[in-house]
Amino acid sequence: MRSLYCGQLNASHIDQMVELCGWVHRRRDHGGVIFVDLRDRHGLVQVVFDPDDATIFTVAEHLRSEYVLQISGKVRHRPEGTINANLPSGEVEVLAQGLKVLNRSEALPFQLDEDDVGEEVRLRYRYLDLRRDKMQKNLRLRHAMTRNLRRFLEDLEFVEIETPILTKSTPEGARDYLVPSRTHPGYFFALPQSPQLFKQLLMVAGFERYFQIARCFRDEDLRADRQPEFTQLDVEMSFVNEEDVISLMESMLRDVFKNVLEVTLPDPFPRMSYQEAICRYGSDRPDLRNPLELVDVGDLMAAVEFKVFAGPANNPGGRVAALRVPQGSVLSRQVIDGYTDFVGQYGAKGLAYIKVNEVAKGREGLQSPILKFLPDDVIGSIMERCGAEDGDLVFFGADKARIVNDVLGALRDRLAADLGLLKEGWFPVWVVDFPMFEYDENAKRLQALHHPFTAPADSSVDKLNSDPVGTLSRAYDIVLNGSEIGGGSIRIHQPEIQQKVFTILGIDAEEARQKFGFLLDALKYGAPPHGGIAFGLDRIAAMMTGADSIRDVIAFPKTQKASCLMTEAPGVVDDAPLRELNIKLRKPIREV
Ligand code: AMO
Ligand code: AMP
Repeated sequence: MRSLYCGQLNASHIDQMVELCGWVHRRRDHGGVIFVDLRDRHGLVQVVFDPDDATIFTVAEHLRSEYVLQISGKVRHRPEGTINANLPSGEVEVLAQGLKVLNRSEALPFQLDEDDVGEEVRLRYRYLDLRRDKMQKNLRLRHAMTRNLRRFLEDLEFVEIETPILTKSTPEGARDYLVPSRTHPGYFFALPQSPQLFKQLLMVAGFERYFQIARCFRDEDLRADRQPEFTQLDVEMSFVNEEDVISLMESMLRDVFKNVLEVTLPDPFPRMSYQEAICRYGSDRPDLRNPLELVDVGDLMAAVEFKVFAGPANNPGGRVAALRVPQGSVLSRQVIDGYTDFVGQYGAKGLAYIKVNEVAKGREGLQSPILKFLPDDVIGSIMERCGAEDGDLVFFGADKARIVNDVLGALRDRLAADLGLLKEGWFPVWVVDFPMFEYDENAKRLQALHHPFTAPADSSVDKLNSDPVGTLSRAYDIVLNGSEIGGGSIRIHQPEIQQKVFTILGIDAEEARQKFGFLLDALKYGAPPHGGIAFGLDRIAAMMTGADSIRDVIAFPKTQKASCLMTEAPGVVDDAPLRELNIKLRKPIREV
């Protein structure tokens, strides 16, 4: 239906007859002459309707935004002074000689080039939202990213294999989405939280190098970087150690950033132990664009009278840490109170601080509600340890280590955003040497920090029984500018060790057999050593496009409440299919 795309026209097409198809982006009536900006996937071109051609002109008079047109006409140079330098086709226009209205459009619920359209209306009319230039660019960049990743892996002989969506629970730490089975009343499939077990079985099956662009489903609390269904680039390899996986995946990321964004990522990426990340940044996904760092001061506080600090300083599970904000002494009392409220939501009971006016003057040069509780030598040591300079502000957190880490970690992010401290650029980092297990205070038992199939570090295997919390794993996470974009591990390939890890996690032999019998069996039949990783493609695409939320790189995302405003899913189901599924609803159904 067309000979060229609107957005591709330029001076080289002058005097050519062209056939164009697209949408009316804008229509202007300039006293006798009608201009239409016609839009297609490549952009806009100006089409001119001249009153000399009365039949076409009459039709053109009735055109409205988003009407769908087919136009034939002649490309000509725009008159002097009307060239639009912002438009790639801005040097030319098309004088319409034929016009066919292929479809009409009602007035849109929002204007495509309007900036602050509410997300609710955007999601309800997503197909219109997706017509917007920004969304078109986002999804195309995502496509370029995916294509690039796929090519990279294919060139290295990775095989793309699909794994089931209707499956059994795959534990990644979230709640499962369940699907009732009609043929087995009372039984349920679970949608996969990841293809983890299947990719391991593909290694047992001898494929050696697997990848999949896989949809994963997790019923968890949603945030800007979390969707109930999201996409992983899932990778698994046999006969590898962590170096192999890390270096290959690093070159893949360098390749995709170079090809898609023309960005050169570091070679190699820096690495940091989990311990160091928590210590310096209070988080296992440190944003290395942010120069602020936590400094431990617990040892200095052990003997002070101030119980708020001395308590955690003397408690093995406690932490007292400082966060120095260069030139932060200008922050007003009111602003500091705001930060105190902010950290309250992370469990902080308060937020002590010292304003550093003149460090050389000692106590006299400082300003703080807690000075009176601290002896001179302690004050001096704190200042020295933090590297405090005149004009700085030092915040303190004191509590259980987990709370201090959460509090100062979050405050660190917040301060960097508020004070504009983030460095420009891309800062990837591998976080390694994770513990195998962490103690879950609510459940009162150990949980896998990654997943239960992660292998213990060779040096740690003996500790599995004696000191499970001190056992390190062979897991690695990749963090980019403070966002966890991927994670993986070398896996357990010996059934005895897998069984042992299950036992530590409180999964007894019977439960292990019932839930993971197929894996335990498979490991008995010559399972090769293997390991892999999965990347959150939505997150990478969001970062590459500069989107605030992964919803902006997903064509049809769910809301924070895990519903789709456009299709109105999830929806109510008739009685008949429910009966077939042997499901009886206990409560009357309310609209979602
Ligand atoms: P993990 O659970 O760390 O590992 O997931 C891998 C990556 O997927 C992304 N991600 C998400 N993205 C959007 N919405 C979500 N709800 C969401 N949850 C996770 C993150 C994360 O780093 N099977 C293991 C991988 C392995 O061991 O190979 C796994 O799924 O970017
Ligand atoms: P208080 O004696 O409770 O008034 O506390 C004195 C100062 O210590 C105040 O600035 C509090 O905000 C701060 N503070 C109290 N609890 C903590 C805590 N757990 N961590 C850091 N600072 C705290």
